[in-house]
Amino acid sequence: MKSALIVFSLTLICLVSFVQCYCGGKKYDPLAKFLKVQNLQQSENYLINEDLEKQYSTVYIGPQEGLKEADKILALPGQPKGLNFYQYSGYVTVDPKVGRALFYYFAESENSSSKPLVLWLNGGPGCSSLGAGALAELGPFRVNRDGKTLWHNERAWNKILGYDPCWNDNVFSYLNNPEVQKSLHANVTGIPGPWDICNPNTVLPTIKRLMASGISIWIYSGDTDAIIPITTTMFDIKKLRVSVTTPWYPWYTQDEVGGYVVGYENLTFVTIRGAGHMVPSTQPARALALFSSFLDGKLPP
Ligand SMILES: *[C@@H]1O[C@H](CO)[C@@H](O)[C@H](O)[C@H]1NC(C)=O
Ligand SMILES: *[C@@H]1O[C@H](CO)[C@@H](O)[C@H](O)[C@H]1NC(C)=O
Ligand SMILES: *[C@@H]1O[C@H](CO)[C@@H](O)[C@H](O)[C@H]1NC(C)=O
Repeated sequence: MKSALIVFSLTLICLVSFVQCYCGGKKYDPLAKFLKVQNLQQSENYLINEDLEKQYSTVYIGPQEGLKEADKILALPGQPKGLNFYQYSGYVTVDPKVGRALFYYFAESENSSSKPLVLWLNGGPGCSSLGAGALAELGPFRVNRDGKTLWHNERAWNKILGYDPCWNDNVFSYLNNPEVQKSLHANVTGIPGPWDICNPNTVLPTIKRLMASGISIWIYSGDTDAIIPITTTMFDIKKLRVSVTTPWYPWYTQDEVGGYVVGYENLTFVTIRGAGHMVPSTQPARALALFSSFLDGKLPP
């Protein structure tokens, strides 16, 4: 594959929750509408509706023909001239029965001969990987102060410090422009707006469901993180109402305290000493030790 960089937007998680919120009782069915629009966009016939019931599976894989061309972005409103890469965006149906689709934005590498494919998901909870990740952190464009035009981010996909404090407003204006949404093949079903940078819905119910499924879940937090301090995370964990199975203890790496850990039923919370929000950047050795324990299925030593 001519590879590059990919962004899956959690905006889609927004879509997911909109679908769930608005389906109930209001007969609001954006997915059906979306599939209809997508059908019309495609040149080949695509008999999804008839076979929907039969084809349903947890991970839905429908016909792919024509989707790439349909998803190609002709031009984003206000984008700089002379781009030497293609961009794509649109919806990927995840679960037609429950009404879930993921929005993605994909920018090919400017120099794509042998570049790896990167999938980027922003956290939040529920912050947009498109609005926050791609357009404010590491994607090929940033939004100008006018909220209408874009500039080329020379340091795309690199770490960038000192954000323009107005980026949020600029991105908000830009992504709420109907022309921009159209060029991105987004909001084809008229999802109630406005689009926002973060989805205020909590992910705690999702975490709870995942915990019950028996998979290993760890939450970690740098103890000098000024964006989401440990106290905030603990406040959230408390809401899960799980009992402690292993009381707090200090864990060690390289003969030093790496942080502290507490075990709950089906959940582990680990702190990393001296780490900020981006733990692997600020404490790489401790982050690696933590990750190795996670992969080994053991609490940190
Ligand atoms: C493309 O990548 C190759 C290998 O990394 C490099 O030598 C070349 O200068 C790059 N070209 C451009 C236009 O960035
Ligand atoms: C979707 O499009 C409609 C019609 O343009 C608009 O009113 C609404 O705000 C948009 N929704 C989002 C989430 O941007
Ligand atoms: C923990 O996982 C077990 C096994 O999957 C499950 O039976 C139990 O309900 C889970 N407990 C919580 C609090 O999620």
